[in-house]
Amino acid sequence: MRIDAAVLRAKSLLIKSDSALLDAQVLLSFVLQKESVYLMTWPEKHLTESQQKAYEVLLVERIKGVPVAYLTGIREFWSLPFKVNNSTLIPRPDTEILVEYALKICSPQARILDLGTGTGAIILSIASELPNARCSGVDFNADAVQLAIENRQILKLNNVNIYQSDWFSQVEGRFDLIVSNPPYIDKNDHHLGEGDVRFEPLSALVAPQKGLADIRIIVADARSHLNENATLMIEHGFEQGKEVRNILRLFDFDEIKTVHDYAQNERISMAIYRGLK
Ligand SMILES: C[S@@+](CC[C@H](N)C(=O)[O-])C[C@H]1O[C@@H](n2cnc3c(N)ncnc32)[C@H](O)[C@@H]1O
Repeated sequence: MRIDAAVLRAKSLLIKSDSALLDAQVLLSFVLQKESVYLMTWPEKHLTESQQKAYEVLLVERIKGVPVAYLTGIREFWSLPFKVNNSTLIPRPDTEILVEYALKICSPQARILDLGTGTGAIILSIASELPNARCSGVDFNADAVQLAIENRQILKLNNVNIYQSDWFSQVEGRFDLIVSNPPYIDKNDHHLGEGDVRFEPLSALVAPQKGLADIRIIVADARSHLNENATLMIEHGFEQGKEVRNILRLFDFDEIKTVHDYAQNERISMAIYRGLK
């Protein structure tokens, strides 16, 4: 089968995906081990039998709903390639906004901590821009820690310490910035039954107390790990902005503000810790 025909056929099979053409292209590029521009440049080239079989296998999985990133094992974030697997969340484009704000406020030598690092997407992206910053990323899931360490090696970043910790349990010292994209979905949220989320681990997604339990722990305990005038930055659900601002206020944070994601939803709240009064 020709490349162009294979893509069109795949697109028609992936009717349930809202990114059918893109999925078809990404998966075929993966099978051919080429950039997707190759598909446009050589539409008349024919797939070999083994390429066609490999493509079919991936399409069957994608039709079942398995995320493209779990099929290819890679997701781009902050223009860097991140290895992904089902131990943690696939990095989302909206989280790049958190990286953007972190870079706006950080000095080049800042001490930065990422809680619930997963693939390492947030802290490794920050470290790639600030080679002299002293960065740490922690996760309580040993497989996620291993994955973030692999990504650190692939990206050749040597200013990031990655280790296992249940939030702050193993964290020592104080930081100029603490960032986190913690689990924040309520267990009854209908989104858990839709799209890629169905295949991601609940340990990366769901938190008790209407999704706010982990955010409460992080805000409360961050005060023992922030320097004076340091910033805490937390990603949260689009309907949680008001509650997260209240939690920050309750724990005496200052200059509390929330910024929006690409869909104009409240998504990241940040505040400054003034130190003990
Ligand atoms: C929403 S995912 C975020 C992953 C990554 N930071 C990102 O933005 O793509 C939340 C991460 O928090 C981790 N996590 C959940 N509970 C934790 C805890 N008690 N201590 C440390 N990490 C935890 C999960 O394993 C998961 O990797």
